[in-house]
Amino acid sequence: MVNVNINDKILAVAPMMDLTDRHCRSFHRLLSKKAKLYSEMINTGAILYGDAHRHLDFDRDEHYVILQLGGSEPSDLAKAAKRGQEWGYDQIDLNCGCPSERVQKGSFGACLMAEPDLVADCVKAMKDAVSIPVSVKHRLGLNEMNPDHPVDYQFALDFMCAVAQAGASQVTIHARNAVLKGLSPKENRMIPLLRYDIAKRLRTDLQKHFPQVKVLLNGGLETNQMIQQHWNDFDGFMIGRAAYHTPAMLLAWDRMIDSQGQENGYFLNDQTWLEIQEGIIRYSQSWLHQLGGDQTERFYLAGITRHVLGLAHGLGGSRLWRQQLSDHRLIAPVKTDLQIEQFFTQASRHLRIFSDERDESFTSQYDD
Ligand SMILES: Cc1cc2nc3c(=O)[nH]c(=O)nc-3n(C[C@H](O)[C@H](O)[C@H](O)COP(=O)(O)O)c2cc1C
Repeated sequence: MVNVNINDKILAVAPMMDLTDRHCRSFHRLLSKKAKLYSEMINTGAILYGDAHRHLDFDRDEHYVILQLGGSEPSDLAKAAKRGQEWGYDQIDLNCGCPSERVQKGSFGACLMAEPDLVADCVKAMKDAVSIPVSVKHRLGLNEMNPDHPVDYQFALDFMCAVAQAGASQVTIHARNAVLKGLSPKENRMIPLLRYDIAKRLRTDLQKHFPQVKVLLNGGLETNQMIQQHWNDFDGFMIGRAAYHTPAMLLAWDRMIDSQGQENGYFLNDQTWLEIQEGIIRYSQSWLHQLGGDQTERFYLAGITRHVLGLAHGLGGSRLWRQQLSDHRLIAPVKTDLQIEQFFTQASRHLRIFSDERDESFTSQYDD
C-alpha cells in the first residue's frame, strides 16, 4: 500500500452495488495508487450467515479498501465490522444513504437518517469492535426537507454530530435529499437537487465541534475539474458514476493529491495504455490461477472486462474495442494465460492510438 499523508485530500470511488466488486476495484487500483476504494454495500446478514468468502474476499493490491455495511442492528454491525477487519479491510463504512424500498424494508440505508440515536449506537458498537476507522455515508436530508430551512439544516447537522460523537472519523455527504417514496434509486441519484453549498456549510459547522472528522463531498462530480473547483471546501471527494464510466479520470488522481489540487491533467497515450493493459492481463491471469484446477471452467473473463469498457472513452476505435470486450463468443473460450493476453492485445488493435497513422492528436487528454 502507498503511504498516504494524513493531511492529504481523499479521492474515493463510491460504493456501487453490482459494480464495485473486487474485479472493478483491482482495475481502478491500476489507475490510481492513492484512490480509496469502496466495496458494494454488503448486508450484515450476508457476512454473518452467508458465504463470507464470496462477499468479502479481495486482492491484496486493492488496499486502501473500505467495506461498506448495510444494517441497523448494532450488535450485528459490530460483528460484521470485526469480521471485515479480520479479513483485512482498512475501514468500515455504514450506509445511511440508500433509498431503495428493499433496503427500507430492512430498516437501513437512508431511512436511518431519521434515527440518529440508533445510528450513533451502531457507530459506537462498530467502533468498539474494531481498531480501524469507521465512517458513515449519508444524504442531506429526507423527502421534502428544505436544507435552506434552519430546522431541516439542523436535522442534517445533528445527524452528523451524532455519528461524530459516536466515533466516526469520516462522513461522506451525498449532497441531495433521499426521497423514500415515489422515486426509484436511480431517480434518487438524479432528481433531488444537489446542494454543494449546504454540504460545505455542514462541514464548517461540524468541524467547529469535531475538527478531526473528515467530510467528503459526493454527488454529481463528473470531472476532475469539478473536483478542483471545490478542492478547498472539503476533506475529500467521492466519485461514483463518472469514475465507473470514465475511469481514465483516476489517472490524474495521485498527481492531484500530491499537488494539492493544482494539477489534474493526464495523457492516455499508447505507453500508458500498454501499462494499464499489462496490469489488466496480469490481474486476469492471477484470477484464473486463483480459481485454479477444475474450477478453470468457471473462469469467465467478462466478469473483469465489463468494468474496463469505459477506459477507451473518447479514443478513436473505442466502439470496436468495446464490442470485442463484450462479445460472449470471443470471451467464453478464453481459459489460458496466453488466450487472455491475445484477447486484450487483439482488442486494442482497434484503437487509433495503435494504428500506423497515429499522430499526437490521437492522444486522448481528459479534463485539462
Ligand atoms: C449502480 C449504483 C449502485 C450504488 N450502490 C450504492 C451502494 O451500495 N452504497 C452506497 O452507499 N451508495 C450506492 N450508490 C450511490 C453512490 O455511492 C453515489 O452516492 C451516487 O451515485 C452519487 O454519486 P455520483 O453522482 O458520483 O455517482 C450507488 C450508485 C449507483 C449508480
